[in-house]
Amino acid sequence: MKRDLLNSLCCPFTHKRLRLEKSFEKNGRIENGLLTTEDGTQYPIVQGVPRFVPKENYANSFGFQWNRFRKTQLDSYTGVPISRDRFYKSTEWSPDDLKGKTVLEVGCGAGRFTEILLSAGAIVVALDYSNAVDACWKNHYLHPNLNVVQGDIYNLPFQEESFDFVFCFGVLQHTPDVKKAFMSLIPQLKKGGCLAVDVYRKKLGTIFWSKYWFRPFTRRMEPDRLFKKVEKWVPVLLPVSIFIGRIPIVGKKLRYLVPVANYHGILPLTNVKILEWAILDTFDMLSPKYDQPQSAATLRSWLEEAGLVDIKVFHPAHLVGQGRKA
Ligand SMILES: C[S@@+](CC[C@H](N)C(=O)[O-])C[C@H]1O[C@@H](n2cnc3c(N)ncnc32)[C@H](O)[C@@H]1O
Repeated sequence: MKRDLLNSLCCPFTHKRLRLEKSFEKNGRIENGLLTTEDGTQYPIVQGVPRFVPKENYANSFGFQWNRFRKTQLDSYTGVPISRDRFYKSTEWSPDDLKGKTVLEVGCGAGRFTEILLSAGAIVVALDYSNAVDACWKNHYLHPNLNVVQGDIYNLPFQEESFDFVFCFGVLQHTPDVKKAFMSLIPQLKKGGCLAVDVYRKKLGTIFWSKYWFRPFTRRMEPDRLFKKVEKWVPVLLPVSIFIGRIPIVGKKLRYLVPVANYHGILPLTNVKILEWAILDTFDMLSPKYDQPQSAATLRSWLEEAGLVDIKVFHPAHLVGQGRKA
């Protein structure tokens, strides 16, 4: 953690300022220490990351997957601008908009989008509820523009109106109360600041997506037990899904009947990486405790209720919502 982050950090519950104690610094960063409030509440800084959440929480499976597949979805690893294209297409922000601006990224995972923000020259705070923060921190170790924080979207540990941009992709559907999670982002925006979120889109066909038939069982399984099954079955099921996908006209829809994440013919990846993504994303489909798609009308109503202007809702792939604080 960089020392200047102390200016925007606060207790996530009382919003009181935090004092740094017993700190140990390395490479100009606070590596370990304690953040304390006047009333004696303490939050540790461990391995460079301030931690505001209990070690065990509902997002453990995400910590498991992002530490195991720390690099898999990073453009710098795949050599293809998959994250970059999704980021700019969905946010409609440009690198010039972001350069030198403060950005809060909520639910950073291993940091595939953190990489894009940093390469645009943004000053980023990447936050996640799970220990995926360790993967994100390792991936972007000592980047001069980055702070990583382990915190909860419902109780963000920052002073209000601290950020020019707030960005939250792939997260809201995985929280217990999606509207409340969305609303908790708004106070973090400075006046005139921009928000971009994305969420799984609810549609009629969602019920035919076989992951929802398996999830009542798989979401209750211990991550390492489920992972062993996924690792065993995905190499068998992926060729079946690819075969079904080749059936003219209906194949593209029918392949959703096989519970495997199949990017064949969709993403420009090598066969080895298609399998790696399939294992990661099949686990990502089956393991999360919560998976709650939303409709475009619902997302639009939240953006309006939050009092944002320049609202836009569209679905380049997932459902995207954009807005600006007046
Ligand atoms: C599907 S991953 C997406 C990660 C990253 N945004 C990406 O697209 O690669 C969802 C992330 O949301 C995080 N998450 C879930 N609930 C959260 C909460 N209450 N507060 C902050 N992050 C949360 C999970 O830990 C997980 O890393």
